Amino acid sequence: MENEFLGNKIFEVYSQTVSASCPSNIALIKYWGKYADQIPANPSISYTLNNCKTNTSIEFLAGEKFSVRTLLAGNEEPKFAEKIEKYFRNIEKYLPWILKGKYIIKTENTFPHSSGIASSASGFGAIAKCLMELDGYFSGKLADEIIIKKASFLARLGSGSACRSLYNGLVVWGKTAEVENSSDLFAVPYPDKEIHSAFKNFNDWVLLIHEGEKSVSSTVGHGLMKTNPYAERRFQEAHENFKILKEILRTGDLKNFIKLVEHEALTLHAMMMMSDPAFILMKSGTLEVINKIWEFRNTTGLPLFFTLDAGANVHLLFPGDKSEDKIKEFIIKELLQHTQNNGVVKDVMRF
Ligand code: PMV
Repeated sequence: MENEFLGNKIFEVYSQTVSASCPSNIALIKYWGKYADQIPANPSISYTLNNCKTNTSIEFLAGEKFSVRTLLAGNEEPKFAEKIEKYFRNIEKYLPWILKGKYIIKTENTFPHSSGIASSASGFGAIAKCLMELDGYFSGKLADEIIIKKASFLARLGSGSACRSLYNGLVVWGKTAEVENSSDLFAVPYPDKEIHSAFKNFNDWVLLIHEGEKSVSSTVGHGLMKTNPYAERRFQEAHENFKILKEILRTGDLKNFIKLVEHEALTLHAMMMMSDPAFILMKSGTLEVINKIWEFRNTTGLPLFFTLDAGANVHLLFPGDKSEDKIKEFIIKELLQHTQNNGVVKDVMRF
């Protein structure tokens, strides 16, 4: 199947500058655990954010010795350059021209670096888009649909969850019986006609509980699933949750949506606690916020809920409807105090 992504014949390689923008995403059913070559251990689904994006430009200097320079918001980032160099070497069979020149990559995020918003997802998404544009010049233009599919395939090889950022709305990565054409190799959009309008306009406010480096990286966390005694059950549960979510999305069942999304977030962190060695990425503020959300929901009945990434920050999810003003008021008054520096990133998922 991977053959479909092998590189075309190169017509001509010449110096060229391209640019692209790609948003981040937040998973509802989480990807946690992988096999070789970034094959996910279970299927996942995410919302692509509307505002948190990475903007990237790539200057390709044809014929020069292969090397990569990266500038993040104007600052030289040698560590990132090293990572990208390795990544480019790794994808040569899919883009045969890729080592035939020098790169100057300028990239900036529209959200704070410390926010824990997945900059690797938007970052690799934007790079993959740039690469496919260059590929169009050097190997001949492909159909848009193939370009975006291959961009998703290439983004996955950079950072797994990045492959979902290539599409808007709800996006699935990983083979599941519940979604036609789903694949472990690239992401596909969740069929729009199977999404109730209740799920097409949500807020995602990210509370920045902790802005420093994480104590354990995602790469290490994925690796620890290999010896986690609960891993197989977890992978199976993700499949079961897809089946449940499909019905929820079709019928507009917000109550069970909330239940499932929060359960997925807590399962992700439970897996971390059951790893050997165990680790905890939540902070006390994370727990205080979760408890306050539950109390708020119990007393007001308003649909404020949460999800978590592999970090301490809390993604506050709530529909963009008549209840949103009261929820926003509660967040500012009661939840913001648990952040490190009054930090909150306000985004929406509207499609
Ligand atoms: O793509 P990675 O390797 O950064 O892993 C991301 C994992 C989670 O964000 C925790 C879940 C997900 O599906 O995005």
